[in-house]
Amino acid sequence: MKTENTVWHEQHITKKNRAKLKKQQPCLLWYTGLSGSGKSTVANAVDALLFERGCHTYLLDGDNVRHGLNGDLGFSDEDRVENIRRISQVAKLFIDAGLIVSTAFISPFAADRAMASEILESGEFIEVYIDTPIEICEQRDPKGLYKKARAGEIKDFTGIDSSYDVPTTPAIHVKTHEKSILECAEQIVDYLVEQKFVSSI
Ligand code: ADX
Repeated sequence: MKTENTVWHEQHITKKNRAKLKKQQPCLLWYTGLSGSGKSTVANAVDALLFERGCHTYLLDGDNVRHGLNGDLGFSDEDRVENIRRISQVAKLFIDAGLIVSTAFISPFAADRAMASEILESGEFIEVYIDTPIEICEQRDPKGLYKKARAGEIKDFTGIDSSYDVPTTPAIHVKTHEKSILECAEQIVDYLVEQKFVSSI
């Protein structure tokens, strides 16, 4: 730790205060799945549904965050671990701000997803497995990256020559190839209502 001479300051306005004002229970929807599985699409649809309900949310998206905060990171195992570490810490701050946060990252390693869960308060972490078979992701190939990976033009591509640990006990298991985007999004919002993170209308 490079910051051993700093002291944590308690803030006057707490997470509870902020959550109460926003009339919601802050939490983290942690989307995980292969590239092209639909994480960002589903997360955006959930965000839109929550916004319509008057919820206060924020979405941290892999490709966007890699343009800024994590612009110095690549796709080695080490960089992916650091990617997820930083995102988890940012998500924790946003939760402290009382928000319902979504993160859409491949987050291929179970240990890193566990670490993200462990730095939060109990019950705040909701793992959402966007389960789309790799054949379908590869058919969709929205960014043409699978094609490049198969041609050997991209190294360490998840599902091709870099591993993905399938979540064993996700809180929400979404099969994008069996339903519409809206149905997938509603499945997730229904969970948030059932678990009382957001109120029913
Ligand atoms: S993670 O593994 O570190 O969680 P992240 O979600 O941030 O990955 O970024 C994944 C996105 O980066 C993919 O959707 C894809 O657009 C792009 N990408 C570029 N190179 C790779 C690669 N080698 N493996 C996976 N995704 C890649």
